[in-house]
Parts: sequence; structure tokens; C-alpha cells
Amino acid sequence: MILIGFMGVGKTTAGQKLSEITQKEFIDLDVYIENKHQKISDIFKNYGESVFRKYEYDALKECLDVDILSTGGGIVEYEPSLNLLKESTQLVIYIDAPFEEIYKRIKNDSSRPNALRSYEELQDLYEKRRPLYKSIADITIRNETTVDELIHKLLIVE
Ligand code: S3P
Repeated sequence: MILIGFMGVGKTTAGQKLSEITQKEFIDLDVYIENKHQKISDIFKNYGESVFRKYEYDALKECLDVDILSTGGGIVEYEPSLNLLKESTQLVIYIDAPFEEIYKRIKNDSSRPNALRSYEELQDLYEKRRPLYKSIADITIRNETTVDELIHKLLIVE
């Protein structure tokens, strides 16, 4: 299964927990990229977002067959990655959450370069990406309450 969705919706936490419960392999694509290259904030600073998107695409290609894969929120903005996800035979799950909740979790997070924007800018980014997530998702799951509730929903579709 591949978890997609905006920054801060809980993809990594959910993937990790699900892997503990099911004993299945889990990779967080951001961690994979950081291990292969350097910290995401440094990649953005040193080479810019476009280079990060290429690294992300290569990482996605390498990890497509992992049991549980959580991806970065901006992966859908790079068409080659979007197409890989679209063509994948894995179950693609879009985790969505109310923007207010997301904003509380990601504002001023310096490890996420794209979160260092105003409330309005982040809301625009959220709205711009939503149709992209929807266009490739097999299933959408709302993360509205607790992580346990989210895990429960994921275990049902797993
Ligand atoms: C990004 C999201 C991040 C990470 C990078 C860019 C984005 O992943 O890939 O900072 O553009 O939304 P998370 O969704 O895990 O925060």
C-alpha cells in the first residue's frame, strides 16, 4: 500500500504503526531520500525543489514494491511521479484531514521547507493538491480524530 496526502496528515505515523501491527516492511520515502542524499531542508537550500523532485522520483521507483510506503506531500506535483503512482498496482490510499488541523501540525516546521509559508499560502497549496491526490487514489480515508482511529480504518482496507 502507498500512503499519499498533504504534509502533516499522519502518513508516516500511520505507516509506522501499521507496520508494527502487521509485521510488514515499511519505508518512509523522505527518510529514504535523506539516507541516500542529505537532509531535505539542505537539498531544498543547496539545489532547489526541482532537484528534490527528481531524487523523490528515483526513490519512488526504487521503493514502489515495498509493503507499506509513505510518500511526501508534494510527490503529486511532479508529473513523472504522479504517473508512476497512477500506474502502480499497489493500493494507493489518500489520507486527508481538515486543513485547520494540518496547519496546527506543520506551521513553522523548519524540517519541511514547503511548510514555511503563510496560512493563506498553505491553504492554497492544500486546495491545489487535493484534486491531484484524488486523481490517483484508490481509496480516501479521513484522519479526523485519533491515530488509533486512522489505523483502525487502514487495517480494514489492508
Ligand atoms: C513536501 C512534503 C514533505 C517532504 C518535503 C516536501 C511537500 O513530506 O517530502 O519537505 O512539498 O509537501 P511530508 O508530507 O511527509 O511532510
